[in-house]
Amino acid sequence: MDVRNKNEGAKGRVEGVENDETSPESTGLFYMEILNQDELKKLKAEFSRLKNSCYLDHAGASLYAESQIASHFSELQTNIYSNPHSRNPSSTITTDAIDFVRHKILAHFGTTADEYTVIFTSGATSALKIVAESFEFNGGNPH
Ligand SMILES: Cc1ncc(COP(=O)(O)O)c(C=O)c1O
Repeated sequence: MDVRNKNEGAKGRVEGVENDETSPESTGLFYMEILNQDELKKLKAEFSRLKNSCYLDHAGASLYAESQIASHFSELQTNIYSNPHSRNPSSTITTDAIDFVRHKILAHFGTTADEYTVIFTSGATSALKIVAESFEFNGGNPH
C-alpha cells in the first residue's frame, strides 16, 4: 500500500470533521488504495492463516499463498519426482519441471538462457555465499 504524507504536521481538529485521532485530518497521513475490494478479499483468503498477525519479512522470506500450497500438494500427489540427474521417467519429469521454472524465471526478468544463468539455492544467504565465494572481485586478481 502506498502511504503518502501529503500534509505533514497537520494536527488537531478540522472543522466539520469528527475528532478521530486516526483520521487523515488528524494524523496528516493519507492512504491510496491500490487493491479493489475483490482483490483485497482474494488476498486475505490466500493468507487467512495470518489471522490478526502482521508479517513484515516478505522481502526476505516471503509467505506462500494457500493456492500455492494446494497446487504444490496436488503436484506431489499426482506425479513422482526424483533425482533429476538420472535417466528414468520420474527423473525426466523432474528435469522438465526444473527447466520450466528456470525459463519462467528468465521470462519474468525479460531475458533468456543465452544471457543469464538461473541457479537454484536453498535461500538468500546461500545465494550470497555463492556470489561471495565465486565472483571475481578485483577483476580476478587475488592481490
Ligand atoms: C529476517 C530475515 N529474513 C529472511 C532471511 C533470508 O533467509 P534465507 O537465507 O534462509 O533465505 C534472513 C537471512 O538472514 C533474515 O535475517
